[in-house]
Amino acid sequence: MSAAISFHLNGAEVTLEPAGDEPLLFALRNRLDLKAAHFGCGLEQCGACMVSIDGQPRYSCTLPVSALGGCHVTTPEALADDPVGVALLDAFEHEQAGQCGYCIPGILMSAYAFLKSERRPGRDAIVAALDPHLCRCGAHGGILRAVERAATKLGGTDR
Ligand code: FES
Ligand code: FES
Repeated sequence: MSAAISFHLNGAEVTLEPAGDEPLLFALRNRLDLKAAHFGCGLEQCGACMVSIDGQPRYSCTLPVSALGGCHVTTPEALADDPVGVALLDAFEHEQAGQCGYCIPGILMSAYAFLKSERRPGRDAIVAALDPHLCRCGAHGGILRAVERAATKLGGTDR
């Protein structure tokens, strides 16, 4: 074990002793019982593991816990506690945007970080924000419509 690291996780302070270069994703799933972020490639190639760190989408499969001191980490489990997250969850359900759903939590986290700062994004900007993500089911059309729906609902609101 390395020196203890403290950071904010979904609004609560946590302290962990990281095991060497243990990635955040492994700590979330195996030690903190937060299973929504998924392991896909482990190589920053698919986006299934995406979380928000200090407002930016980050791959948790390669980010070591030891680098998180003082950071604010948000995982998909916290989306229902935030108006932007709620708008996205509602929109994804309305559009039936998920197929198998494996990629969806990561996509939601990139969309969440994006819509926190973008008030009236066009489709090109949404596509660019979601570019790091793979969806093997081909649900891209529904996913884009869902993010557009959430953006429209949130347009002009305080985030
Ligand atoms: S599991 Fe992290 S990018 Fe694929
Ligand atoms: S919904 Fe199945 S991989 Fe995206």
